[in-house]
Amino acid sequence: MVLPGHPVLEAISWPVRTDRLTLRPATRDDLEATWRFHRLDAVGRWITRAPDTLEEYRVGFEDVGSLAKTLVVELDGEVVGDLMLRVEDAWAQAEVADQARNVQAELGWVLHPDHAGNGYATEAVRELIRLCFEDLGLRRVTASCFADNGASWRLMERLGMRRETYNVRESLHRSGDWLDGMGYALLADEWPPAQV
Ligand SMILES: CC(C)(COP(=O)(O)OP(=O)(O)OC[C@H]1O[C@@H](n2cnc3c(N)ncnc32)[C@H](O)[C@@H]1OP(=O)(O)O)[C@@H](O)C(=O)NCCC(=O)NCCS
Repeated sequence: MVLPGHPVLEAISWPVRTDRLTLRPATRDDLEATWRFHRLDAVGRWITRAPDTLEEYRVGFEDVGSLAKTLVVELDGEVVGDLMLRVEDAWAQAEVADQARNVQAELGWVLHPDHAGNGYATEAVRELIRLCFEDLGLRRVTASCFADNGASWRLMERLGMRRETYNVRESLHRSGDWLDGMGYALLADEWPPAQV
């Protein structure tokens, strides 16, 4: 599969299948399918961007850097969610910075609310973490969320991710409120946790 703009993802043989889902890199053709859920308040309220129109959404979605780190999640051939996989450097002291390049990934997830509550997001993110550790050889994955986003932090805890930071009123929500945020992480040698 040719993946222009997806250099990191070329290390993986796509599509990837789980028991119920298919994961693959997003393409421009996924614009409208993903807009169907990104346009919903229940989704937009928790994520970085909540565009009002498809055209506004298109600008962010088609950005080369953004597309290169986006996967879509399909259920029976329908796009029901998307995932972010952003490979990045770990912090390091200057003398060893070369050894810390591209060793970890920040992850993200969105599921169409019509399909919530069935474990689909958990199943997709479980596979995403496996890909990070087993196929990409990364040493750590991280993710963050608003403390009020219970569905997201429960998903992380279900998968064995560890809450490592709790930041009080550090993130400005578009509502105008400064909200608490939480950071989660998991190391390769902690995967898979016993119950996952
Ligand atoms: C975060 C988000 C992806 C979680 O979706 P979700 O449907 O709760 O997660 P899953 O699909 O894994 O389903 C898990 C829920 O189904 C239940 N469930 C049912 N069958 C299950 C199964 N086979 N495996 C796991 N959980 C199952 C779980 O108990 C859980 O419910 P609970 O959280 O009330 O305990 C979704 O709420 C979303 O897209 N939110 C908007 C965007 C967002 O917040 N993104 C993250 C920003 S940090």
